[in-house]
Amino acid sequence: MSKHISIHSLKYVFASHQDPDIITSLPRWLMHTDCQVVTSRLWSRFLPHLVSGFVSGKMQKSLDNRMVEIPDEGSNIRLGNSFIRAIPAHFLHSVGNFHFYDPLSKILFSGDVGAAMTPGQDHVPVENMADHIPLMEGFHRRYMASNRACRAWVNKVRQLDVETMVPQHGKAFVGRDKVAAFLDWFECLECGVDLIC
Ligand SMILES: [Fe+2]
Ligand SMILES: [Fe+2]
Repeated sequence: MSKHISIHSLKYVFASHQDPDIITSLPRWLMHTDCQVVTSRLWSRFLPHLVSGFVSGKMQKSLDNRMVEIPDEGSNIRLGNSFIRAIPAHFLHSVGNFHFYDPLSKILFSGDVGAAMTPGQDHVPVENMADHIPLMEGFHRRYMASNRACRAWVNKVRQLDVETMVPQHGKAFVGRDKVAAFLDWFECLECGVDLIC
C-alpha cells in the first residue's frame, strides 16, 4: 500500500465481515494509520475485542470514533468527491456481511463470494469460467448459507454496473461477460442449509 499512498492518507479499512483473514490485523491498522474501520453494525461491537491487549486504555476509548457502522440495508461511504457503496451480502457467508462497490472503477470487491482455491497465479484474471467453477464449488457449497441468500445478492448486483469483480481469495473476474457468468452460476447454486438432509 505504501508504494501508492502515504500510510497516513489511509482513510478507511473496509471489513466485509469478522473472519480472522479479514480483520485480525485491526490493531495494527489502528495503531499505525489514522483510518476508520467500516463494518456491519453486527460486528462493530465485537471487533474492539481484537484490540484489547494491544493498545492503551486511551486508544481503546477513542475506538468508538474510528468504527463506522453499516446498517443492514447498506450505505454510501464518502471518499473524496465520490463514495464507496456498501452492498448487503448477508449470510454470504457471515450474518452481517458487506461487499464494496466503487462506481468510478466499476469494481465490486466481493469478499468471500467468488473465492477460489487456485494453484497460484492469483494475479492473473480468470480466463475460462467453465474451468474456474470447479475451483470455487466446494468452498461455496459449504461456506455460503443458502441459495435464497445467493439469489438476493445476485438481484442486487445485477442492478450495478460491474466491470470487474474481485474476490478476497483466488482470481479476479475481469469483464462484464465473466461477471455475468459468475452471477448465472451463483444464482442456481445449492449451498449451506439447502444441503442438509
Ligand atoms: Fe470469511
Ligand atoms: Fe476469506
